[in-house]
Amino acid sequence: MNKTNVVVTGASGQLGKTLQALWPASQLSPRFNLIPLQRKQLDISRAQEVAATLDALNAHIIINAAAYTAVDQAESESEDAFASNQQGVVNLAAWAAANQAWLIHISTDFVFDGAATSPYAPASKPSPIGVYGASKLAGEVQVQQRLPEAGTIIRTSWLYSEFGNNFVKTMLRLMNEKPELAVVNDQIGSPSSSHSLAAVIFAMIETGNDSRADYSGVYHWSDGGRISWFDFAQAIQQQGLQQGLLKTEIPLRPIASSDYPTAARRPAYSVLDRSKTLAEFDCPSLNWQQQLAVVIKAIAGIEG
Ligand SMILES: NC(=O)c1ccc[n+]([C@@H]2O[C@H](COP(=O)([O-])OP(=O)(O)OC[C@H]3O[C@@H](n4cnc5c(N)ncnc54)[C@H](OP(=O)(O)O)[C@@H]3O)[C@@H](O)[C@H]2O)c1
Repeated sequence: MNKTNVVVTGASGQLGKTLQALWPASQLSPRFNLIPLQRKQLDISRAQEVAATLDALNAHIIINAAAYTAVDQAESESEDAFASNQQGVVNLAAWAAANQAWLIHISTDFVFDGAATSPYAPASKPSPIGVYGASKLAGEVQVQQRLPEAGTIIRTSWLYSEFGNNFVKTMLRLMNEKPELAVVNDQIGSPSSSHSLAAVIFAMIETGNDSRADYSGVYHWSDGGRISWFDFAQAIQQQGLQQGLLKTEIPLRPIASSDYPTAARRPAYSVLDRSKTLAEFDCPSLNWQQQLAVVIKAIAGIEG
């Protein structure tokens, strides 16, 4: 029996690496081939390269984990952000539409302005307040227009893992270097482990199989919770101490976003309502604290 080919773009990013790490133990691996492509193997912003590569690989499902993710830099590098996050998605979606492939595209809570006070539903109106969010929204629009029946958008928030750069790893490093740390306490959201996001993507493919049209549209995924970056830092410190990644406890000080100026504004509130995803798929049941423990242990394993 021929296996179905699943291509992953952006394979050296944190989601790309997690998908590869969890693949062998997933239920999909006996029936599907995972083909991870790093940027040097496929730059999604180049239309001809996209078409030639996906033709050659006979891609049935494309997981787009490639993105320009430097939120602050995007404010001064708008062209680069849109090249990956809009044009790159145009190229993938156009190829998928012409070749009856299923595109699973990852997007972000930063498509919202943060003015809400209750969780954003998949149908809530996006209104980005920065270049990164605008470029990601532009990509979403392309998926919806070009693949109304074979395009799935998964928005996630505060993504972290043992791979690459993210808030958890930055906090652990700073907590080992500094005598105290000030952390923003007025941005509210939900963390997402790339492990749980990968599990949701696998569950979609497992459930969708050949009836992918059922799952086109927008889904939200996070590990739940409604916390600030300060709350998250406190949990990281406690778990880091427990796992021996931190030598001593240092004082953490809550500050306002206005005390920590950045090039890009960030949504003050970006909790995603994930109820539709929970209702339709066999999703991970661990809460955000338990998911954090999985990643902290993985970091301890790497460093230990
Ligand atoms: N990180 C978060 O907090 C967060 C939150 C919500 C949603 N998301 C979304 O989740 C997804 C995965 O994010 P992540 O944290 O895993 O990102 P990441 O670690 O920054 O990885 C993204 C990868 O995409 C690659 N890439 C960028 N432009 C490309 C292009 N034109 N062609 C091919 N590859 C390209 C990057 O390569 P180079 O490094 O060589 O450029 C990098 O390896 C993205 O869609 C992101 O928007 C992330």
